[in-house]
Amino acid sequence: MTRIVRTRAELRTALGPAARPIGLVPTMGWLHDGHRALMARARSENATTVVTIFVNPRQFGDPADLARYPRNEARDLEICEAEGVDLVFAPSVDEVYPPGFDTTVTVGAIGRPLEGAARPGHFDGVATVVSILFGLVRAEHAYFGQKDAQQVAVIRRVAIDLAIPTEVIACPTIREPDGLAMSSRNVHLSPPERAAAPVLWRALVAAREAWARGERSGDALRVTMRVALAGEPLATAEYVSCADAATLAELEHVEGSALLSLAVRFGTTRLIDNEPLG
Ligand code: PAF
Repeated sequence: MTRIVRTRAELRTALGPAARPIGLVPTMGWLHDGHRALMARARSENATTVVTIFVNPRQFGDPADLARYPRNEARDLEICEAEGVDLVFAPSVDEVYPPGFDTTVTVGAIGRPLEGAARPGHFDGVATVVSILFGLVRAEHAYFGQKDAQQVAVIRRVAIDLAIPTEVIACPTIREPDGLAMSSRNVHLSPPERAAAPVLWRALVAAREAWARGERSGDALRVTMRVALAGEPLATAEYVSCADAATLAELEHVEGSALLSLAVRFGTTRLIDNEPLG
């Protein structure tokens, strides 16, 4: 039976006797199969699984984006129950950021390109809330989707730099049958946009295939993605990237591993996806 707690104090009490290790799955709710996979992995590797459901206002630059973020707590709790989650922490904004809260974790270079450039302040918001959640839950392991590859890199950096003992574990992206990466934002796509959205995956696959055939020019791989995206009239490319997998600096030449990533708008909905090379 999944237990739900809403305050820091209740969480502390609930975690006191919890069997260890603890696996933490931080989420913003509107749970989908990608989250289910994180919960299943957490459950298989830990004695206690904790899910947090909190739409973090500090990681949204645009108030309209925050306001329309999808929410359905009752459905989320059913999913947690079905996945055998032991404890859900679903706090209010004031519980996470109580009166007097005055600290922000500022992310360095790893948070500047790509999503960091497109969404100023986003990663500081993510790093701040994840640091709070890590401090509250004190889990041995925390699970994040590789779909947000830069987020994973940022959180790993934060955990190392702030000496947080929770191990950050990245889990593979879960896709719809047509290749679209699962995301809470997919719900905002109109039917024609939803039909067009797998172009992100097609663009990544086209670049990966070019790489598999021996293409090593970063520019050529970026152009391959842009050409694929240009074939879809409803898609507006925001960025395409072929970057060093560790630093996320754009590559002229792919020698070892690399990360292909892109951000694309369909109307007012912004989707991201990525594919590692090597
Ligand atoms: O990936 C998300 O859902 C959020 O960015 C996270 C990690 C739960 C922090 O709010």
